[in-house]
Order: sequence, then C-alpha cells, then structure tokens
Amino acid sequence: MEGREQWGTRAGFVLAAIGSAVGLGNIWRFPYVAYENGGGAFLIPYLFALLTAGIPLLIMEFTIGQKYRGSAPLSYARLNKKAEWIGWWQVAISFVISTFYAVIIAWAISYTYFSFRQTWGSNPTDFLLNDFLQIVDPGQLGSFVPTIFIPLLIVWVIALGVLFKGVKKGIEFANRIFIPLLVVMFLILVIRAVTLDGAMVGLDAFFKPNWEEIMNPAVWVAAYGQIFFSLSIGFAIMITYSSYLPRKSDLNNNAFITGFSNSSFEILAGIGVFAIIGFMATQQGTSVDEVAADGIALAFMVFPEIINSFPGLNGLFGALFFGSLVMAGLTSLVSIIETYVSALQDKFKITRTKAVAIGGGLSALISILYATQGGLWLLDTVDYFINHFGVALAGLVSVIAVAWFMRKLPDLQKHTNELSDFRVGLWWKICLGVITPLVLGFMLYQNLILNLTSNYEGYPTYFIIIAGWTVAILAIVIGFLFTIFKWKNNKNSSDDLGGF
Ligand code: PFF
Repeated sequence: MEGREQWGTRAGFVLAAIGSAVGLGNIWRFPYVAYENGGGAFLIPYLFALLTAGIPLLIMEFTIGQKYRGSAPLSYARLNKKAEWIGWWQVAISFVISTFYAVIIAWAISYTYFSFRQTWGSNPTDFLLNDFLQIVDPGQLGSFVPTIFIPLLIVWVIALGVLFKGVKKGIEFANRIFIPLLVVMFLILVIRAVTLDGAMVGLDAFFKPNWEEIMNPAVWVAAYGQIFFSLSIGFAIMITYSSYLPRKSDLNNNAFITGFSNSSFEILAGIGVFAIIGFMATQQGTSVDEVAADGIALAFMVFPEIINSFPGLNGLFGALFFGSLVMAGLTSLVSIIETYVSALQDKFKITRTKAVAIGGGLSALISILYATQGGLWLLDTVDYFINHFGVALAGLVSVIAVAWFMRKLPDLQKHTNELSDFRVGLWWKICLGVITPLVLGFMLYQNLILNLTSNYEGYPTYFIIIAGWTVAILAIVIGFLFTIFKWKNNKNSSDDLGGF
C-alpha cells in the first residue's frame, strides 16, 4: 500500500473522472437517445436517473476505491474475499471495451485528417464502407485494412505513453490538457452550429417535449441506461481512479461535480448535434427525423455530408468535430486501460511499466482484429453485447453484492460522510439498495428476452454466439480464473485482505 501513486491535486482527480465520463457516448449517443425518447420531456427521467442512480453509484464507487485503496479486484477483495471476482469481471469487461474503443478513435483520427479536403467525396457512406473500411458481409473478417493500422498505432502510442508516465505525470497531466482543449473546441463548434441556417428547426425537434412518453417504461429504461454508460459506472474505472485519492478527500462533492459536469456536456452536445442536423434537414428540404442518427452512422456518414454542404471553412468545422471525438475518446480510453494496468500491478506486484506493456500490449494486439474488412460488424456486435450483458449485469451484481450480500452500505456511508462536506442520508441507501437494482434488473430482463428471440441487427447466429454471447460470458469466466492466482503483494497478502 505504501508507494501507491496519488493524484497531484483534487482538481486533477475530478478532471480525470470527467475525462473518463465524457466520451463518445456524450457526443454521439445522448443527443439521439434524448430525441427518440421524448425530446425535452426526456430531461425529467434523465435527471431523475442521474440523481437516483448515477450519482449514488458514483459515490459508492468513489468510496470503495478511496477506502480500500486498490484496483477494482483488490478493493472488492478487501470488502470481502469472496467478492474479488466481481472486480476481475469488471476489469475483463473493460479490457474488451478498450480493444474496440481504440479503433473508433483511430477512425476519428483519420476523419480529422480527411476533413480538410473532404476526402470522402460526394457520397460519404459509400466512401466509409467501400473505400475506407473495405467492408465485407457481416460475419466474415476478410483481410487486414492497412490504412486503419496507422491511426490505430497512433492511438496506442498516445494512450500507452500517457499510462507509462503514471497517475500524476501521465493521466492527470493528459486530462489537464485534453479536457480544456475539448471544451474549447466543442464550444466553438456549438456556437457555429446554433448560428447556422435551420439550426432552430433542429433545436425545436430536440427540445420539443413529448409528454406522453414520460409514461412509457422504455423511456425510463433508456434514461437509466444512458446515465450508467455515460458516467462510466460498472466499468471498474471509478474505483480505480478513486484508489489514488489521498486519505482526506471529499467524495460526495466530487461525485456531484463529476455527474453534473458530464450531464452538462451531454446537453451541450445535444444542442450542437441537433442544431447541425436542423441545418442539414433545411438544406435538403427534408425533416429532422430523416437526418437524425447516432453512433457510427452519425459521425462517419451524416457528419461528412453535413461538412460537405457547409457554408464555409468546411475543413475547420470537420476537424473540430472529429478532433472533439478524438479528445473525448482518448481520455476515456486511458481510464479504461488503467483498470487492468492497476489490477495487474496489485495482483502480481509488477511495475507500472510492465503492467502497461503486458495489458496494453495485449489489448493493442487484439484491436487489430477490428482493423479488418469485417471489423465494423465485429465491433458493433462486441460493443452491444459487452455493454448490455457485461457492464449492466456487472453493475447490477455489484450493487446487489454490496448492498444485500455484504451489507456494506452503512460502512461506506459512514466513511464517505466523515470525509465529505455534505452528507448522504437514507435516500442514498434506498437508491442503491432498491431503485438501482430494480431498474437494472428490469432493463436486463427486457434485453435478455429481446436478444433470445431475435438476432441483434439480423447478424448470422454463429456470429452472434461467438462475438456476442461468448465474449460476454468469457468476461465472467476470466473474472473467476484470475481469483485463483495468489496475491503477490506480500504486504497485502490474502490474509490481510479483509483487514481494512
Ligand atoms: N462514459 C464513456 C462514454 O460516454 O463514452 C463510457 C466509456 C466507454 C468509458 C468506453 C470508457 C471507455 F473506454
């Protein structure tokens, strides 16, 4: 334990937590989810989810990490020896996510470069699929696509470079640069967006409240789903980051700052993205609904088209958008890789350099699988399954374990309240012990039924079984397997684990 690295400043920790939370999900997922689920009316379930699940869980993860001062597996092991596997499960999930998240950032790097000359030409969708990704049918891998290698290599060099440098000189320093830069770039983008012709049409569509939707359970599930993903909870990330906090740290306040900053960025992204979509719809004489999209389609198909029809400085605008994706993505990628770097260090008592080289190196190698002609399908499937049956399920299991099996909420509450300016009360335990498990359980049940009765995106069954179910199940199995190894850390030998 002595010698555990520490953040240089409180702001450094908060910035890193925000850097993890603000990711691709904020820019390309939130705007569309809100639009599809009641527009302005969505803000009510969304804020409700933030206050009843997002921030309470964030406080729980911050407290576990800070109190037990370990990576997710070590912290869970110190909570209770039998819980170690939950930590490894979350770490395994994070490992899988890092393998494809890096690839999306690599695409965004290429597109930042393409923006200047609009290399994608007059048909960006055709360019993306046929020229850039050289796509083959779903379920096949095809051969490697060398052009994706180069930006992918850049992503890994930056991310692992930051991690080699450590918590303070690497992660904290990088977030101090990337986050302000991201905010400035994104603000310029949003200001330009809202002054475009037709921006109001888009904003109107985005904010127009559809009140009936509030009665629809699916809308509430979407709100909770967005909050969980967006705040990086259930990923082992927040436990890892808070394990580097000093003994005296205000946890509750930090959780509120992180939660509200993340949501502010999300709403800002909604405004920017829908203003731009309104512009496009007006240009084409179609409706906002025709243009609106999310994820890969929004970023790599719709946006290039919008950039093509921009009234001026097209290249700059494109670079601001894709550059923002790169910045937001890199800070999240760094946070997710740190989960296994830290876990490997704790468990096997190896140096940071070794842990980064082994963990990061392996993830980088696996990421090459997505730099193939069928990489897009693989990425889409792994992403969907690991989020729906990995992150969400591990999140559910962790709150049930902490709240019901180990009954640790009172201890954690006492710990965080002693350190924090304002205290959390009974509401906190109700949110974690009752509301969160109910909503997450319902969400999982629905998704399970949906995916057992139909193939995600209609992909071939063998492919869904391998890239979807197997990967999600493997994460649990690997979680268990890692608990078999003995803790190499003599000071924290397994006898010591419960002694905190
Ligand atoms: N909060 C992140 C986002 O909104 O994109 C979620 C995340 C995804 C974090 C992938 C880290 C990561 F590697």
